[in-house]
Order: sequence, then C-alpha cells, then structure tokens
Amino acid sequence: MVRKPSQVSISTQIPQQRERYTNADGAPVAFGYLLRSHRKQRGLSLAQFSTLVHFDRGHISKIETGKRNPSVAFAEACDRALSTGNTFTTIALTLESATRQQQGWVQPAQLPAAIPHFVGRAEQLSCLDRLLLDQEQSLATPVGVISGPPGVGKTALAVQWAHQAVNDGHFADGQLFVDLQGAGKKASPFDILAGLLHALGVPADRIPETLEQRSAALRSHLHGRKMLLLLDNAADAQQVYSLLPGSPRCAVVVTSRSWLPGLMSKAGTVPLLLTELHRSDAIRLIREIIGETRADTYPAAASTIVEHCGYFPLALVLACERIVHHQYRGADVSTADLNLTEEDVALHHAFETSYGILRD
Ligand SMILES: Nc1ncnc2c1ncn2[C@@H]1O[C@H](COP(=O)(O)OP(=O)(O)OP(=O)(O)O)[C@@H](O)[C@H]1O
Ligand SMILES: [Mg+2]
Repeated sequence: MVRKPSQVSISTQIPQQRERYTNADGAPVAFGYLLRSHRKQRGLSLAQFSTLVHFDRGHISKIETGKRNPSVAFAEACDRALSTGNTFTTIALTLESATRQQQGWVQPAQLPAAIPHFVGRAEQLSCLDRLLLDQEQSLATPVGVISGPPGVGKTALAVQWAHQAVNDGHFADGQLFVDLQGAGKKASPFDILAGLLHALGVPADRIPETLEQRSAALRSHLHGRKMLLLLDNAADAQQVYSLLPGSPRCAVVVTSRSWLPGLMSKAGTVPLLLTELHRSDAIRLIREIIGETRADTYPAAASTIVEHCGYFPLALVLACERIVHHQYRGADVSTADLNLTEEDVALHHAFETSYGILRD
C-alpha cells in the first residue's frame, strides 16, 4: 500500500537538508504518492508524462503505486520534467542508500590525505571538474589523465581535486585509490583487480580466476554507483584498460609520467599535461613552508630559490625542508648555502628531459 506522507512537509524547492524527505521514523517519503500528486497537479496524463520523462507508462504506473522502486536516473528525469529541484532525486538517493545498507555494501574511502600546503593549479582543478559535468551528459565513463614529469605534482593535484569533489557531495558511494607503481615495477592489473574487488567487499574465495572475469566483476560491482577511482602512477594505457568501470556515474582520474597514448579511444578522457608552478605560486609555497616573515624579509633569496628549482614543486619542497632543517636565516638563505646547484638543479634538468619525452 502506498503510504501517505502525513508527517512531513513537502517542498518543491532545492532541499537544504535530506531530513525534509523523510518521515518521523526516518523512512523515505513514498516516492510514488508524491509523484502522482505532482503529475496530477500539473494536469498531466500518464501518457503525457511518459513522453516528457522518456520512461515507459507501465514503469511509471508501477512506481506511482509503490510496486517498483525508482532509479536515481528516473528521479532526475522527474525533477527535470516537473521543475521540482532535487525533490525526487533526493528521495531516490535515500531509498538507494537504504537498500545498499540492507545488502551490506561497503563504501571504501581510500583517498590519501591531501597535502598541507597545496598552492595554485586553479585552471587544472576546474578542468578536472569537467569529469563531474560529463557524468550528467554522457554514457561513457569520464576519465581524467594527468601526465607530466616526476615531481611536478600530479598525485598532489589528483588527490586535492578528489577531496574537493567529495567535500562537495560527489562520489558518495566511495573512493578507491590504487598505486600502479609506474613503469619500473608496473603492478599487474590481475593483482590490482583482486585488491579492488576486496576493497568492495568481495571475499577472497569469491574473487574470479581470470583477468577478464575480474575486470567484469569490477564493472558489475561499480555499476550504478557514484564512485571515484584514482589510479596513481600508471605505466601505460594497457595497464589501465581492465580497471575502467563501465558506468557513467563513476569517474576515473589517472596520473602518469606518460601521456598514455591509446586511452582516449577507449574512454571519454580529459587530458592534462602538468608543467611547473606559476612563479607567484612557487613563491607562495616557499612562504607557506618556511614562514611568511622569513620569506618576505629576504625576497631576493626566495626568488633565487624558485628560479633554481625551475618552479618545480618537488624541488621547492626539498629546498624548503633544507631551509627549515638547517634553520637558515636572513642573508644566509641562498642557493649556494643550500647546495641547490648540485642536486636540485640537476633534478630540474631531469625534469626538462622528461618534458621532451612527453612532448614527442
Ligand atoms: N600544487 C602543489 N602545492 C604544494 N606542493 C605541491 C604541489 N604539487 C606538488 N607538491 C609537492 O611536490 C612533491 C611532489 O608532488 P607529487 O608527488 O604530486 O609529484 P608527481 O608528479 O606525482 O611525481 P611522480 O611522477 O614521482 O609520482 C610533493 O612533496 C608535494 O607535496
Ligand atoms: Mg605521483
């Protein structure tokens, strides 16, 4: 029987709190009852509404009479057709999460901590936001590929963006993080898939035996879930293929020292080639780590350091750590005193070489 939502006030505005859509017991308001009221209020027949939402009449009727649960996609279509903000989507999400709890779904939260002094990268962060828009517009799983030389800040950027997205309410079903170990060690997709399935609650004795079966099992487990998969330090596109979800509600961010040729043809990728920091951000990083007073008292020394480090975050962090460690002060803060010329500038040349490879 369809329950009448007598204990709640129904608002068609964008909800501030999920509680508005639950009754006194915390159970979701009857979706079907509410849908029928809104549809009738607008004088729409089932057939007319079916045309508007692109769902079958029989399907809508079953949902209205409480015989079938609405999917989130159906609820989103209702909100669009009836201009009800997030009303139906919120109820469907509450229903979905209750069902998952009953089914014992695990919700992994594997993101590493964001770094404490993250600076700059505003353009790249908003570029990655396209992965969130694509979720609404495309059937392909959105994949962001951050490539660049060692130490340029690929992992830091990916993790920063992921935390921001989660804080903004995205990827509510969980976040998976895997270190693919780069071209040197090159973790095998077969083993990585076992780890991912395990993290999704699959017991060891239920993990399939072949690569293809594991890959299919991962897609099944991710299907319909709003999850983020952060694949850090990929060796090549081949290593990534079998780890990709099939559902557009998921998103993937891959970092790699290679630009992963071949991946674009398989997935809706957002490519990003990361280069050194802007000068002002590099100076900001120094100020953040060694302290504003010390950095601002000797601006010439700070300038020399950022230039010698080639505006590379890793070189800058190493240089700053040395400054803090040795408690260098004032006029003593110079590249010569820090021995930057030998080690860190050499590092800069290594980065330049890596750029050459990426650009070829
Ligand atoms: N935007 C940033 N703001 C502050 N620090 C940063 C930033 N980007 C990177 N760093 C620092 O630079 C160092 C190297 O960054 P990161 O590990 O992300 O590089 P990477 O490109 O992933 O390198 P690799 O190819 O070796 O994996 C880290 O110590 C990180 O804290
Ligand atoms: Mg990295």
